[in-house]
Amino acid sequence: MPITNQEFRNALATFASGVTVVTAAAADGKLYGLTVSAFCSVSLDPPLVLICIEKTARCHEAFKESGKIVVNVLAEDQRHVSERFATQMDDKFEGIEYSLNDAGTPVLEGAATVLECAVRESLDGGDHTIFILEVEDTEVGISRPLLYYGGNYRTLGA
Ligand SMILES: Cc1cc2nc3c(=O)[nH]c(=O)nc-3n(C[C@H](O)[C@H](O)[C@H](O)COP(=O)(O)O)c2cc1C
Repeated sequence: MPITNQEFRNALATFASGVTVVTAAAADGKLYGLTVSAFCSVSLDPPLVLICIEKTARCHEAFKESGKIVVNVLAEDQRHVSERFATQMDDKFEGIEYSLNDAGTPVLEGAATVLECAVRESLDGGDHTIFILEVEDTEVGISRPLLYYGGNYRTLGA
C-alpha cells in the first residue's frame, strides 16, 4: 500500500537542511524567486547542483525559460527573507536588498553563500521539476546558515 502524504512529510521532516532562495529573471525582465530547501550537490566535475521546483509555482515557467539562476543560501538572520519568498505575492523583491549580476539575475544582500548558475537540464520529478544547474561563480560569506528541520527554522548551536 502506498504511504500517505502525511507519512511522507513526517519522514522527510527528520532531514535537516539549509534554506535557499532561488532567483531568476524572465525574458521581459520580471524578477522571480522562491524559497527552496530541495537543493543539493550533484557533481564536482563539472560542478553541478540540483533544485526541485513545484510545477504549480508561479516562477516555474520563468525558471524553465531563463537560462540563468542564482541560488542564494540564506544566513541565520534571514528567516524573514525565507518567509517572504515562500509566500505568493506580486512583488517579493519589494523591501528586499539585492543587486543584479551580469546576467540580470537577482543576488540577495546578506546571503551566506551565492551560487551563480546556468541551467543545464530540466527533468520530470513527479509534481516537481528537477533543474540541473552548472555553477559558474560562487561568493562565500562568513555568515552562519539558516536551517530547517522538523517543520521549523533553526540555527546552529554553539
Ligand atoms: C522552508 C521552505 C522550503 C521550501 N522548499 C521548497 C522547494 O524545495 N521547492 C519548491 O518548489 N517549493 C518549496 N517551498 C515552497 C515555496 O517556497 C512556495 O510555495 C512559494 O511561494 C512558491 O513560489 P511562487 O510564489 O512562485 O508560486 C518551500 C517553502 C519553505 C517555507
